[in-house]
Amino acid sequence: MKIFTEPKKLQKWCAARRMEGRKVALVPTMGYLHEGHLSLIAEAKRRGAQEIVVSVFVNPVQFGPNEDFDKYPRDEKADLAKCRAAGATAVFFPTPANMYLDAHSVYVNEEDLSKGLCGARRPGHFRGVCTVVAKLFNLVHPHFAVFGQKDFQQAAVIRRMVRDLNFDLDVVVAPIVREPSGLARSSRNTYLSDDERKRACALSQALFAAASAVKAKGKVPWKAERAKIVRRLESAGLVVDYVEAVDGETLAPVKRLEKGVAVLLAVYCGKTRLIDNILIK
Ligand code: PAJ
Repeated sequence: MKIFTEPKKLQKWCAARRMEGRKVALVPTMGYLHEGHLSLIAEAKRRGAQEIVVSVFVNPVQFGPNEDFDKYPRDEKADLAKCRAAGATAVFFPTPANMYLDAHSVYVNEEDLSKGLCGARRPGHFRGVCTVVAKLFNLVHPHFAVFGQKDFQQAAVIRRMVRDLNFDLDVVVAPIVREPSGLARSSRNTYLSDDERKRACALSQALFAAASAVKAKGKVPWKAERAKIVRRLESAGLVVDYVEAVDGETLAPVKRLEKGVAVLLAVYCGKTRLIDNILIK
């Protein structure tokens, strides 16, 4: 497994592999890898990638001034071992200084899908995500890149960026990997105390209950279902940031739950902000 820290060297190596006819996949991450991340590497393998490039970079540009950039968990050594075991063929570990040169002044802004949901609560977040992902796409020029449904809005924003800026690659979105309790795996789960971890199960339970209601009754009015979700979250001691139902493609708010609708939520569990979602099938 190759290890790169220099963008230029990574770019050269990837271009050479592509020239040889190798199928290249990119899995962008911020590290502190867990089974959710590793499932993306497995998905790349399943789709026949011959080179799987995993980037590990806690991207300062996507964090707000009062967010957790400084305390975001990092473990380079463990991440390398996990990438190797999962079958990555290259890992990219840049430093902020070599990703963002002095006087870096060009950013990528998606101006529709990033307006609501997390974008409304985290100003500048998706500008940071789009900018770093666009840079990674230019460095690796993969045949496809794998993202997780865990960050539903992020996947939609990236898909739109790829379409609107004509990036020559496919975006693959892999399912959410959960702990046995239903809690979606996340690097930020490490912030949770034992008690908070138990309470955080209410996120997935509330989402599963909403999906079951649709299964049992067909179309379900969102207003009443939303009230049930909020009650469930609040009785677990969680503080709701948002609970929304949107069209799975356009992210436009909907009035009924039915096939193709995504229910997305963000809550505070103590000081930790957690997100989860379900796409109704
Ligand atoms: P990070 O939070 O590390 O997540 C990297 C990728 O792993 C994302 O595509 C995310 O959706 C996916 N992922 C995280 N938890 C998952 C889970 N439980 N199941 C399935 N997939 C999961 O998302 C980012 O980093 C950054 O914004 C990034 C895209 C790397 C840009 O900096």
